[in-house]
Amino acid sequence: MSEIERDEISGTSTTGHEWDGIKELNTPLPRWWLWTFYATIVWALVYSIAYPAWPLINSATSGVLGYSSRQDVVKEIADAAAAQSEWRDRIKANDLGQISQDPKLFDFARAGGAAAFKVNCVQCHGSGAAGGKGYPNLNDDDWLWGGTYEEIHKTLKSGIRYAADAETRISQMPAFGDGMLNPDEINSTAEFVLALSGQPHDAEAAAKGEPLYAANCVACHGERGQGLREAGGARLNDAIWLYGGDKAAIVAQITRPRQGVMPAWGHRLDDVTLKELAIYVYSLGGGETLQPQ
Ligand code: HEC
Ligand code: HEC
Repeated sequence: MSEIERDEISGTSTTGHEWDGIKELNTPLPRWWLWTFYATIVWALVYSIAYPAWPLINSATSGVLGYSSRQDVVKEIADAAAAQSEWRDRIKANDLGQISQDPKLFDFARAGGAAAFKVNCVQCHGSGAAGGKGYPNLNDDDWLWGGTYEEIHKTLKSGIRYAADAETRISQMPAFGDGMLNPDEINSTAEFVLALSGQPHDAEAAAKGEPLYAANCVACHGERGQGLREAGGARLNDAIWLYGGDKAAIVAQITRPRQGVMPAWGHRLDDVTLKELAIYVYSLGGGETLQPQ
């Protein structure tokens, strides 16, 4: 094909391809389109030299401008920490009572406590802190160990029956089923506990249980079942139960108590976070200003 063939009507050269009498015209791409195309190639080259672009085996080309989104994050975290450090310093320097008197500081501490609670406490106490069987509800004003700022803080710091902490709160309800009380006596004592908590009960058995309760239980649960916080003795004369308030649950507890364990957080969390958590738990609704009883 030495001679270029031209279309008669448009005068455009053809490519020489022909199908069923239809010839393909050799129309060049529009100029503007071509230049835009070249510009994108140049842009891509410049970009991949300036910015991180090409993946390598363990990293990527870093680009001559040294841009990195990771650095941005590092800086943002540092800025946030700097913004918080002033507040955290104040939490560190003040005691819980003082923090509670300063509304802004209190709000900051409470928010920090809420965040720490989500990470460390919800597994056992539930996302709304309402607890579950064996795990106390922290929203109410029924406290095993006390609901003042100081008492809550101590519970958090050293835990409950947490063997690895020398200061931990300890109180072991004896397993009365191991020979201290026979099944009949356990039954009577349980009936008396039902009576204390205002539930339907067998009056005759409860009358037999009363002296047994006085001899074995008063030391930790109080004469009228009002509970005794120094001993972590649960209140028995209300409708709030850690392990259930029906007859079977009470018999089970007397026979073989569970002795729940709450980890000590003083080993894992810093002072400021512990204070924030105490503020948060206190503010859930059951916080107390007076010493118990
Ligand atoms: C592994 C489970 C577990 C985790 C995690 C846990 N707790 Fe507890 N917590 C318990 C148990 C069990 C008790 C009740 C112990 C008892 O029988 O006296 C308890 C008791 C408490 C009490 C005492 C309540 C009272 O009535 O005196 C407070 C306050 C408390 N927890 C707060 C927290 C906070 C705040 C966190 C997170 C930092 C947390 N707990 C994490 C299991 C847990
Ligand atoms: C040395 C202290 C101590 C003595 C004595 C004791 N308890 Fe307890 N009791 C506790 C503690 C602490 C708890 C909290 C849960 C646990 O540790 O198992 C508890 C929990 C209970 C509960 C469960 C309360 C709930 O909310 O679910 C019942 C019921 C109970 N005790 C009944 C008795 C009876 C009845 C006696 C006497 C026969 C008795 N206790 C003697 C310390 C004691």
